[in-house]
Amino acid sequence: QTIFVLNGPNLNMLGKREPGIYGASTLADIEAACRREAETLGFAIEFRQSNHEGDLVTWIQEAGERGALVLINPAAYTHTSVALQDAIRAAKVTVVEVHLSNIHAREAFRHHSFVSPVAKGVLCGFGADGYVMGLRALAAFTGHDKQ
Ligand code: DQA
Repeated sequence: QTIFVLNGPNLNMLGKREPGIYGASTLADIEAACRREAETLGFAIEFRQSNHEGDLVTWIQEAGERGALVLINPAAYTHTSVALQDAIRAAKVTVVEVHLSNIHAREAFRHHSFVSPVAKGVLCGFGADGYVMGLRALAAFTGHDKQ
């Protein structure tokens, strides 16, 4: 089975982007950690990033067509995107939402997520480790780790 690991806007800047908030790991570091964990769990992964909302919508639709699971850091679109919520509903995909920072400990505009109501679960505040935890959560939820 395949897990799509989808990353929203500005996450290509990780490493140099506000490291006090988002940590020192680059997106390439996170991808490497995800690939290692996916191999251990017995999943294939598609790791993608885009600064464009529509790309994320298209990829969620693709995940649905392929029967894949989704781990997504929607970044700023978390707080704005009805389109992402609609795409997840339409594709009927199992989604885990992840954020590097604890969005609830930050500005009020980051406290609301359009994705959380359609996510199986949400991880935030654990930095890059949250991605690995998210992959494990998807494996446990689908029973894949017990097969
Ligand atoms: C983020 C949190 C969002 O509020 C922010 O817009 C991001 C990254 C995180 O991973 O902590 O771009 O999703």
